[in-house]
Amino acid sequence: MTVDLFEKFDSTLDEYNKLPEGELNPFTVSMDSVISPTEAIINGRKTILAGTNNYMGMTYNAECLQAAEDALKNFGTGTTGSRVLNGTYNGHKKLEETLKDFYEAKHAIVFSTGYQANLGVIATIAGPKDYVVIDADSHASIYDGCAMGNATVVRFAHNDPENLEKRLARIRKKDPDAGILVVIEGVYSMLGDQAPIKELATAAKNHNAYVLVDEAHSIGVFGKTGRGVAQEQGVENLVDFTVGTFSKSVGTVGGYCVSNHPKFEALRLVCRPYVFTASLPPSVVASANKALELIKDSNLRVKLLENSMKLNKGLANAGFNMGTTGESPIAAIIIDDKDTAVAYWQNMMLEGVYVNLAVPPATPNGLNLMRCSLSAAHSFEQIDYMLERFIKVGKDLGVLS
Ligand SMILES: Cc1ncc(COP(=O)(O)O)c(C=O)c1O
Repeated sequence: MTVDLFEKFDSTLDEYNKLPEGELNPFTVSMDSVISPTEAIINGRKTILAGTNNYMGMTYNAECLQAAEDALKNFGTGTTGSRVLNGTYNGHKKLEETLKDFYEAKHAIVFSTGYQANLGVIATIAGPKDYVVIDADSHASIYDGCAMGNATVVRFAHNDPENLEKRLARIRKKDPDAGILVVIEGVYSMLGDQAPIKELATAAKNHNAYVLVDEAHSIGVFGKTGRGVAQEQGVENLVDFTVGTFSKSVGTVGGYCVSNHPKFEALRLVCRPYVFTASLPPSVVASANKALELIKDSNLRVKLLENSMKLNKGLANAGFNMGTTGESPIAAIIIDDKDTAVAYWQNMMLEGVYVNLAVPPATPNGLNLMRCSLSAAHSFEQIDYMLERFIKVGKDLGVLS
């Protein structure tokens, strides 16, 4: 008898099949057209985009568009090759130079996505004899990097330096000579909280461990020149590897890792998610390069955090149970049960506001969230509209009294 390899997905499919088909299915949203970084037509309805991680609104920046168009004309639609074969163009090398300049770092490597950057760097530098010590609320790409590298994985309680210290002490007692990599995120994407990098990295250094910080949700957003939370907190000297993505504040796609480790360039030869995949299209590389230049000196950070504070405060004042405080561009309302969360999401769509329905396993502590990620491109009027709609739907569904 053939064992059905898909049997293990039956319960997931049962859950999924309860959702309606078409526009009210949260997992099949399709944009008919996009008007701007903050508006699209979805199912024929003009919709405010309140959950796209487009923090700086770079997707329609005129200079980024021009750079992409020029590259498209001059270099074609794709490279059709790996970085180690025919897939390195001058643009890729220039982008790595821009990253080195942006971070004042000695080395920078560009990957095809942020997911692959974590997968590649973690799996390659932490092998079977090593340990990776990760925050329990880490992104899937961090977990997958750990699994791929076959290191021993140890989790510590979210943002808890004392707990990290204990875990590291235990590892060192057992294995005094082990290689250890501690992995944290600058900003955690679901509840928008920042890592206390100084305390966590100090614990790591006390035990001779390396520190990797994933600044996916913080590049462009935090720090004087937009390098992220480590820059904001003044602790970049404690970080050995910075990973990030171009898919959020940079407004396109791609990932990177920067470091001062003297042997870092070895990754170009041994890191499988770098070697065995096609490189980024030249137009993407060109727009990422331009966006990084713009982000460095941007005052959009101020507007972005003002927007976030306005939405977070407005929702909290209305009486919602908030998972966020406005310290980052993320606003998340905690909804008691999954069915209400789905209904909430559907009603918001009908009211012309797209937010993220975030449910386990993507969320910490089994939370159901209506998650927004603000953009500097949102106007205060748009935020007022979001607030009104959140309150209306909240009252309709009995989430707000
Ligand atoms: C913390 C974190 N790391 C990495 C990634 C992956 O980024 P990308 O979309 O470039 O694959 C994400 C994306 O959501 C993320 O939130």
